[in-house]
Amino acid sequence: MRVLLLGNGGREHAIGWKLAQSRDLSLLLTAPGNPGLAEFGPVVTGFDINNPKAVTALAIDNKIDLAVIGPEAPLAAGVVDALIEAKIKTCGPARDGARLEASKAYAKDVMARAGVPTAEARTFTEVTAATEFLASKPGPYVVKADGLAAGKGVLVTEDLIAAQSWARICLEGHFGDAGSTVVVEDYLLGPEVSIFVLTDGKTALPLAPARDYKRLHDGNEGPNTGGMGTFSPLEGLPDGLVDWTVDSVVHPVLDVFRQDDITYRGFIYVGLILTEDGPKILEFNSRLGDPETQVVLPRLNDDLLGLLAAAAAGELHGKPLAWLDQAVVDVVIASEGYPDKPVIGRPVGGIEAAAAHPNALVFQAGTRRTATGIVSSGGRVLNIVGTGPDITSARTAAYAAVDEIHLEGMQFRKDIAL
Ligand code: GLY
Repeated sequence: MRVLLLGNGGREHAIGWKLAQSRDLSLLLTAPGNPGLAEFGPVVTGFDINNPKAVTALAIDNKIDLAVIGPEAPLAAGVVDALIEAKIKTCGPARDGARLEASKAYAKDVMARAGVPTAEARTFTEVTAATEFLASKPGPYVVKADGLAAGKGVLVTEDLIAAQSWARICLEGHFGDAGSTVVVEDYLLGPEVSIFVLTDGKTALPLAPARDYKRLHDGNEGPNTGGMGTFSPLEGLPDGLVDWTVDSVVHPVLDVFRQDDITYRGFIYVGLILTEDGPKILEFNSRLGDPETQVVLPRLNDDLLGLLAAAAAGELHGKPLAWLDQAVVDVVIASEGYPDKPVIGRPVGGIEAAAAHPNALVFQAGTRRTATGIVSSGGRVLNIVGTGPDITSARTAAYAAVDEIHLEGMQFRKDIAL
């Protein structure tokens, strides 16, 4: 099978690594890819994956059988609609289904119609109404830009003035159209869990849960990031949480989609928070998580290519996925200045030495190959992954491999999976 994989992060490197293990793969073409993905097949660097016409032409020219979309932006840009129109099987929802992530207000509406437990929320398009509403509430405050803002559109704060300023910044155009509506939600407290479900619109197969560390610094301090580390499996989850997520969250959402004539084929990322009143949904994404994918796929004991092709064809089987009985821990290496102003273009050393460690994998993210070697090209640069029979040994393997990495000013958390 000839596969086109869109994206260039650690998530896509992990997807490509897993796809490359399939006997049925004859080509893995990646755009815009990264130096890690180049090990598995051709990479079209500098390619605009948010251009539906260009992606479709690339797929047709390369006789692609299956397109796999990693990040959310091409989904929201209608790339899947164009691929399907060109009769190319695609794992990833079309633009209507991708609104589950691309509009937080829409996601809230779907949750209400599906009877899914979530935080109470109000949406606003005017600054005065938003700031007055915030002033009428006790903190902490949760203010979200409605649309896609590359993970930067959410503020959680105790400070009313900061919350009101955030609403103003969004509504006055800081995020463009993505902030023309804001969602103000009740604050929920509890441990968070990410559960991904692969669906062909009818059948829903859950993947192993993972936990993401969203704050920059140890002890969950500092600014929110795209994710600084993750691990799987998770111990001590409420009994039946995964089945509940499938039966009481994902299937009701798919029922709403069917009522609205939306065919959803791909992943639904269910971001859960385990509150004292039971699990509630923090957010949906219309794709796999990054960095959670980097610990979930190394545990998957099934053929990812077969699963993605079946989901894209609307023929997903109902057999539960098989998992390796091993633990996986991922430590993200980020650039100096991340998340606000990452410094890029610095040499990244030690990737091969880290990957050569026993029980270690390296998934590249913000990297670029130059004539003199690999340099950083983004905020999150590398994922250093350790595996082992339990979390403690996986953690030890990951941090031993982290010690090999050289990147001036690099930031990483020392408490992942602790
Ligand atoms: N790890 C959070 C996300 O992928 O959105």
